[in-house]
Amino acid sequence: MQATLSLLVAAAFFFSEVPRVRAQCPDYSIYSQQRHEPFSTGRYNLSYMRPEPACRTFNSSDVEDKIVAMKDVIKDPDLYRLFENSFPNSLDTAVKWKGVSASNAEEELTFLITGDINAMWLRDSANQMQSYLSLLKANTSTSSLASLYRGVINLQARYILSAPHCNSFQPPIESGLAPTQNQALPDDFTPPVANTTVFECKYELDSLAAFLEISTNYYQATGDVAFFGKFEWVSAVQMILETTEALLVGTYASNGSVNAVPYTWMRTTTSATETLSNEGRGNPVQEGTGLVRSMFRPSDDATIYQLFIPANMMFSRYLDSASTIMAAIGGQRNLANHMHNFATSIRSAITQYGIVTDPTYGQVYAFEVDGFGSANRMDDANIPSLLSAPFIGYLNGTDPIYQNTRSFILSSNNPYYMRGPVINAVGGPHVSFGYAWPMASIMRIFTTSSTSEIETALKEILSSTDGLGLIHESVNTFDAGDWTRQWFSWANGLFGQCLLDLEGRLPGVLGGSYQ
Ligand SMILES: *[C@@H]1O[C@H](CO)[C@@H](O)[C@H](O)[C@H]1NC(C)=O
Ligand SMILES: *[C@@H]1O[C@H](CO)[C@@H](O)[C@H](O)[C@H]1NC(C)=O
Ligand SMILES: *[C@@H]1O[C@H](CO)[C@@H](O)[C@H](O)[C@H]1NC(C)=O
Ligand SMILES: *[C@@H]1O[C@H](CO)[C@@H](O)[C@H](O)[C@H]1NC(C)=O
Ligand SMILES: *[C@@H]1O[C@H](CO)[C@@H](O)[C@H](O)[C@H]1NC(C)=O
Ligand SMILES: *[C@@H]1O[C@H](CO)[C@@H](O)[C@H](O)[C@H]1NC(C)=O
Repeated sequence: MQATLSLLVAAAFFFSEVPRVRAQCPDYSIYSQQRHEPFSTGRYNLSYMRPEPACRTFNSSDVEDKIVAMKDVIKDPDLYRLFENSFPNSLDTAVKWKGVSASNAEEELTFLITGDINAMWLRDSANQMQSYLSLLKANTSTSSLASLYRGVINLQARYILSAPHCNSFQPPIESGLAPTQNQALPDDFTPPVANTTVFECKYELDSLAAFLEISTNYYQATGDVAFFGKFEWVSAVQMILETTEALLVGTYASNGSVNAVPYTWMRTTTSATETLSNEGRGNPVQEGTGLVRSMFRPSDDATIYQLFIPANMMFSRYLDSASTIMAAIGGQRNLANHMHNFATSIRSAITQYGIVTDPTYGQVYAFEVDGFGSANRMDDANIPSLLSAPFIGYLNGTDPIYQNTRSFILSSNNPYYMRGPVINAVGGPHVSFGYAWPMASIMRIFTTSSTSEIETALKEILSSTDGLGLIHESVNTFDAGDWTRQWFSWANGLFGQCLLDLEGRLPGVLGGSYQ
């Protein structure tokens, strides 16, 4: 009795000590809406937005060293402040929990939230980690960036095995964190999932591609092939293949009968992008195209035509690169070949069905097709987008069809290109008309070597943070004070990653003035 009691007391003491420090830390969803000293010294007078060191959710001396080193490269005081705030944002604020699996103490787990929503998206978390890719090295320490990567990959594998059609997930049971309430799970969707594990279950092909992307990134930077053979990675890849191959199905069989579809989603909503027509199946898709269906886009909005080209590009590219990991593990030659062949057949299908002819721009990639001949011609800010095709490594930026597509995307002929005096960039139906997404301006910079185009985009990004010094989700193109999402970690990390890319490619633009 007594032993039990003192253990309880000890436990209570322990649990009250750690959170007490945390309890003094401000809620970043509020903190990121207020301005904090010291302000930057340029005309934009930007807030300092890093939490104080004791409140940061992960420390990396490599990241801190890089932030210091960039001070000599980025000469403009406002641009440097925006970098200094945004680059470490995922480490500073989004590592909600890091630990190990209850069933295997060697299996690291990282619960990395998107920012202002307390849930982990497959796509966001893979990309949040990618902002630190240039600093990633092989390292077995549990306090290294490599460990953080392994933790994200292991937790994503667990999520995919439990609910392969879903895009966003709850904290792992080991964390002791309560699941986040979500009214957004609809009344009617298949297959069923547990709301204690899943936060949202929109089937997006790019979420599965994101797992292959972060796996490729970790493998190429560290060469740590042993890691991929140890835990659930191989099973997760098998689950991805099973899930995506089942979604090669068209709407009708050749005899005219209606095929069963492995995923449906239907809900009561006032927004067309939040549900699917035809009893949760969406618009019809031709049989036998070789493209994988995606019911939702990386913006979490429903696709109009489910043969969504950017996610097929990303999936093909990273399935192929992940096949080299599978081959290197040993004993998985057949699976590796299967991955490579599937990636190749998707690439052929993109070439066959995903390219259309525009009277002004010539041959261009379509955003979405149905395989019957209809195409949705637009681009959306979220990645993967058509604009990001070279960034995701699907093609070379000099590719003439990409260049035609890029000219179209960055023109008023793209129905979602948002223009105005504040910022000019691709937007999308997620936030609707009149709101440009800084993330798309960042992608514009990644995909050009024109210094004037880069300087214009940098200036627009810098002038549209409303003095807060963080990258917002979207900004009203006529009013910099009207924006969405104060705490969007992925977009912040992407901006940091972009400036590191410029440092290597065109350092001169970082030495200029943006006043
Ligand atoms: C910067 O902003 C702060 C707080 O909003 C304000 O007190 C200060 O005067 C501003 N400085 C400049 C130079 O505009
Ligand atoms: C990060 O370092 C600070 C000291 O600089 C410390 O107070 C804080 O607890 C560390 N954070 C983590 C998650 O280890
Ligand atoms: C591994 O990471 C830890 C924590 O960041 C660091 O202290 C250590 O120096 C790193 N080891 C190597 C070999 O880079
Ligand atoms: C899960 O669903 C049940 C039943 O609808 C509901 O009572 C509960 O609050 C939900 N939990 C979360 C975390 O959303
Ligand atoms: C039509 O073809 C499908 C797929 O091959 C098959 O499952 C189904 O039984 C066929 N239906 C009829 C009525 O022949
Ligand atoms: C793209 O193609 C150009 C011209 O063929 C070549 O110089 C460049 O290295 C290629 N870039 C990449 C990233 O492959």
